[in-house]
Amino acid sequence: MNDINPRPLIIANWKMNLLVADTVKLVKLLVKSAAHESLAAELVLCPAFPALAHVKELIKKTDIALGAQDVFWKNMGPYTGEISPAVLKELGVTYVLVGHSERRNYLKETEPMIHHKVLTCLTEGLIPVICVGETLTERQQGNKDLVVWQQVKSALAGVQLAAHQRVIIAYEPVWVIGSGQAVNYSDAAQAAQVIKEALFDLLSTKAVTDNFRIIYGGSVDSSNARDFARGDILSGILVGSASLRVAQLMNIIRTVG
Ligand code: PGA
Repeated sequence: MNDINPRPLIIANWKMNLLVADTVKLVKLLVKSAAHESLAAELVLCPAFPALAHVKELIKKTDIALGAQDVFWKNMGPYTGEISPAVLKELGVTYVLVGHSERRNYLKETEPMIHHKVLTCLTEGLIPVICVGETLTERQQGNKDLVVWQQVKSALAGVQLAAHQRVIIAYEPVWVIGSGQAVNYSDAAQAAQVIKEALFDLLSTKAVTDNFRIIYGGSVDSSNARDFARGDILSGILVGSASLRVAQLMNIIRTVG
């Protein structure tokens, strides 16, 4: 939606799928493959926390950016097991996934938690990638738009954005994630329209236009990536399974560019 960076955005979410050694191998191969071409997309890699420092080192001579899969909503303190925004920044992280459906589901992340995480990211200078999307039951009950609308409104309620602050909203229909079958473009674009309307309710037209972009995630591969990154209402993709193999990821990058 914005023109701060007109290149399509590709975010690779490796979830809990790789050992640190596997991550290092994958990034080395990726950097080698990408060295021979100029990337037409803005690429963000989201490895597991223990691999962040390794990945940062491996991508330092490239324009690939680093993302984290989660963050805590306080910067320091007695929060056993949590990861602070300050530490993420120290490790070179720029983007942070917030409210991924797997965290909402398995970790019982609530809307208030997600809201606090978004606020903290913005205060600390990280770019939140807010994941929203309906479950199959919610869709079957005809509540898709309502769910997406409420998730956006709750995540961003009361937020004021300075000109330089960026926010990404990823529409990820939960029932499609990992299924091998993405929704079609018009379905995703319709959800993006709902997201945009929720944003217009919260913020000025200028802020929505300048500070936000909406991307799609859920079984993206090289056969459908181009649609979701075409740069109208959707300008990027969040890729899980298909980002775990360098050849597939490079194909997606080439398709999108
Ligand atoms: P998938 O995962 O590409 O494997 O469907 C996407 C995601 O969960 O972000």
